[in-house]
Amino acid sequence: MSTEDPRELVGTAPAAEEKALEAALRPKTLQDFVGQSTVRGQLSLVLESSRLRGAAADHVLLSGPPGLGKTTLAMIIAGEMNAALRITSGPAIQHAGDLAAILSSLTDGEVLFIDEIHRMSRPAEEMLYMAMEDFRVDIIVGKGAGATSIPLELPPFTLVGATTRAGLLPGPLRDRFGFTGHLEYYSADELERVLRRSAGMLDMQVDDAGFAEIATRSRGTPRIANRLLRRVRDWALVHGVPLVDREAAGQALDTYEVDRRGLDRLDRAVLHALCTTFRGGPVGLSTLAILVGEETETVETVAEPYLVREGLLARTPRGRIATEGAWRHLGLQPPESADSGGEAVSSGDPRWDLGDS
Ligand SMILES: Nc1ncnc2c1ncn2[C@@H]1O[C@H](COP(=O)(O)OP(=O)(O)OP(=O)(O)O)[C@@H](O)[C@H]1O
Ligand SMILES: [Mg+2]
Repeated sequence: MSTEDPRELVGTAPAAEEKALEAALRPKTLQDFVGQSTVRGQLSLVLESSRLRGAAADHVLLSGPPGLGKTTLAMIIAGEMNAALRITSGPAIQHAGDLAAILSSLTDGEVLFIDEIHRMSRPAEEMLYMAMEDFRVDIIVGKGAGATSIPLELPPFTLVGATTRAGLLPGPLRDRFGFTGHLEYYSADELERVLRRSAGMLDMQVDDAGFAEIATRSRGTPRIANRLLRRVRDWALVHGVPLVDREAAGQALDTYEVDRRGLDRLDRAVLHALCTTFRGGPVGLSTLAILVGEETETVETVAEPYLVREGLLARTPRGRIATEGAWRHLGLQPPESADSGGEAVSSGDPRWDLGDS
């Protein structure tokens, strides 16, 4: 395993070479899309109604954390509508002209997918308002006093926007979407279904307990589940294990230092520093970062969110503190209270301590 990027297994962004693998595992229909029953139900109404009306579907905004299926759903929308799909992203649209070029080449009923839509430039955003509402844009030709605007009619199209930061979208843009779907983290049950489907496509033999073991380590995220599944496949292949059961899955993922709760080396190092060196905190972020040998930003944006979500770490005005769950997860005795403090010394290097609860 390469040790360059400590987040390669449980990080939320796809690695470059991972994108092709992901594409192969993407469900193609709403029927195959696991979980997210609320969004799936609402979306199927939107699509069905548009089919009955014989018109392009309302614009759809998909929001939620990375790896939960926004791009997948955008593709499914185009597929279910039997429409062509055009894919672009906010950062790729820096000038209004970039957007005008895309919009003016759309065909009737086409689905335009703008990923990371919160990162579009302001002028492009304003052009998009009009395009979404009136299916037309004004193209400015020339500069200064001689500039004129030429109105351009657009064919009806469906805009699908995806964002991990819905809060950053300006109100006027958000309001122009007919439907907003917010994706939630997946339950262990749902992740097992994702894994079952992927294992079938990868030709892997895994039993129920094996799926459950991988699911609980996947942080509620299908992207991570699929990634862990591939690593388990490697392990099983090399060790000549034809059927992956709980023990095999556990051993495989222990080898990659992803523990029973989906924490990796860095996550555990942070908790360990908090619990052992600082008796649970509060500790300032920069001190914590130095102790684990990482940049402040890495600790804050990469390790902390999941630790907070899991209730293992809390942010307070005075600094970071470890919760009782953190001590237990590391197999340590939580102190009785802040000053009476239990013995909180652990042997061994935190980086190799796989935690056992
Ligand atoms: N509901 C689901 N059922 C089955 N597989 C899923 C589901 N959601 C996501 N996946 C799988 O997870 C992977 C990541 O999904 P996707 O690329 O759609 O996430 P995303 O929300 O667009 O992430 P990002 O914010 O990073 O762009 C894909 O390979 C896809 O196969
Ligand atoms: Mg995406």
